[in-house]
Amino acid sequence: MSTALVFTDYGGPETQELIDRQQPVPGPGEVAIEVKAAGVNPADWKIREGRLGHHWKLPAPMGREASGVVTAVGEGVEDFAVGDEVLGLPATGHGGIAQHTVLSAENTVLKPEEISFADAAAIPVAGATAYDVTHQIELEAGQSLLILGAGGGVGLMAAQIGKVHQFTVLGVASASKKELVESTGATFIESGDGVNDRVRRLAPEGVDLIVDLVGGDALRDIASVAKDPQNIVSTADPATATELGGAGVELSGEGLAKITEVIKYGLVSPNVRERFSLADAREAMAVVETGHTAGKVVVEP
Ligand SMILES: NC(=O)c1ccc[n+]([C@@H]2O[C@H](COP(=O)([O-])OP(=O)(O)OC[C@H]3O[C@@H](n4cnc5c(N)ncnc54)[C@H](OP(=O)(O)O)[C@@H]3O)[C@@H](O)[C@H]2O)c1
Repeated sequence: MSTALVFTDYGGPETQELIDRQQPVPGPGEVAIEVKAAGVNPADWKIREGRLGHHWKLPAPMGREASGVVTAVGEGVEDFAVGDEVLGLPATGHGGIAQHTVLSAENTVLKPEEISFADAAAIPVAGATAYDVTHQIELEAGQSLLILGAGGGVGLMAAQIGKVHQFTVLGVASASKKELVESTGATFIESGDGVNDRVRRLAPEGVDLIVDLVGGDALRDIASVAKDPQNIVSTADPATATELGGAGVELSGEGLAKITEVIKYGLVSPNVRERFSLADAREAMAVVETGHTAGKVVVEP
């Protein structure tokens, strides 16, 4: 038997349960792993609440990214073998927050030995998204990148990627995240009332790109600091970004391999700040559900 976190109905945290079920078996194009760590993402509770539709068969396994050791490979999988250390996205119908899961082989890469399992678990969703959202519109060295929500899982990695490219990075977050945001090399700007003026003081002409990781009114309030509204890319709220003239993030498919390489060389850190056991996975979810996470939260079965 093998334990997994699931939600039994669309709704609040009370629908989350740890269940024991048979160890999952990989289908064609899939690899089974013993999970070493799983990243927790806002998507987990958004899916549970039904905000992303009702496509998931109940009880629905939770967790969109994981690292671990391959225990079996499905038909047609040639790139992985039993015993490989990997990181990737769970296959349809599977979740990462579990003792064992099944990954989609095409969305899985070998884990470099320089990267810990905990850090690796933060790469498939948060890392790959940070890569894609900072590359959708290419800036040149010296141009300005403003990150709204800079202290979270995607934000800290996006800020570090911006510094690798020698952009001028402005990170908007709450006061408690000042040091964390500055640790990336970004200039910290406190979120909330008056944020526009604070940005204008540092960038009177406006900024070359806004990466939005918050959406809603926070995005509306800051959008006018973009020199060109087309240069707004959002992971959190594509509808508002599009309405303002920008766009939602497009997943390139190459982000996973690219960001894994960059992290391997120590240029970007996944900033795992909180680690929970599988027994405490619901607490891990509650931390992320506050919407004010610092860095990444992982569950280690
Ligand atoms: N489309 C995709 O493929 C994809 C992939 C990954 C993530 N996402 C989405 O992208 C968003 C960010 O993901 P994440 O994993 O980085 O989330 P996260 O770790 O929860 O971080 C979000 C950050 O936003 C900050 N924040 C909240 N309200 C803010 C405001 N008004 N102004 C400035 N900052 C504010 C929060 O802390 P403070 O308020 O304390 O600063 C927090 O650090 C989420 O909506 C997620 O669902 C989409």
